[in-house]
Amino acid sequence: MRVTLTCLLCFLCGHSAVADLHSHHSHPAVNKKGNDTPLLESPCKGKPLDFVFIIDSSRSVRPHDYEKVKAFIKNILEFLDVGPEATRVGLLQYGSVVQNEFFLRDFQRKSDMQKAVDDMIQLASGTMTGLAIEYTMNVAFSEAEGARSPDANVRRMAMVVTDGRPQDTVHEVAASARSAGIEIFAIGVGRVDMNTLLAIGSEPHAEHVFLVANFSQIETLTSVFQSKICGGETTSLPLFLFPFLIIMVIMKPSIQDCFFSF
Ligand SMILES: *[C@@H]1O[C@H](CO)[C@@H](O)[C@H](O)[C@H]1NC(C)=O
Repeated sequence: MRVTLTCLLCFLCGHSAVADLHSHHSHPAVNKKGNDTPLLESPCKGKPLDFVFIIDSSRSVRPHDYEKVKAFIKNILEFLDVGPEATRVGLLQYGSVVQNEFFLRDFQRKSDMQKAVDDMIQLASGTMTGLAIEYTMNVAFSEAEGARSPDANVRRMAMVVTDGRPQDTVHEVAASARSAGIEIFAIGVGRVDMNTLLAIGSEPHAEHVFLVANFSQIETLTSVFQSKICGGETTSLPLFLFPFLIIMVIMKPSIQDCFFSF
């Protein structure tokens, strides 16, 4: 058990390190304006984006943890530049089935989205993660449901939050979604299978795959995502991240051992 905790902590430290580097990296741009603009002052402004939340609503998520996921979603919404010409947001949850909460075309105001998040009711059934990703690709990101046309070159992002092992396969469908141009963030909470997260998230994994120990820790990711979602292109990986990436690759097998040793 101690080994398990140490591993989780190591992993968390690694990620906070990335978060720190990132905020140092992105601060100068903010400071140049000559004031203490807080990070929450929407660096997302003027960057059109189609963004879909994919929320694991399975039975294993306890009711108070489900509330923490809702709080996390609302924190992310807080810094998005919501609007039909800026960031469009969709949200779906999944258990044994996929349930759409709102499509990209449904809301133009942040307050309406926040209310819809408050009103979400947990499905408390299975964990069909692959099905949810397929639905996201084929339905949530269809132009009929409000995604902008591929010609418009608007970035497409999806964020999967899950605490379990899927009952279906995710590898192929996640790969198809990524090759269809959807950048996928995979957030695992607790005893998730690291292989699943890695199969879901876009490359580089250090930028897209996150593991936190429990639902209380999920809020620590908000500021990380602020720079990732709004910070522009993620294709050029800063050189200083390479040591971390190498460490992560070396650690990967032991992380899996950690999880299986629960
Ligand atoms: C969540 O994880 C953190 C870090 O491992 C730990 O300090 C905290 O006590 C945990 N919280 C709960 C509610 O288990």
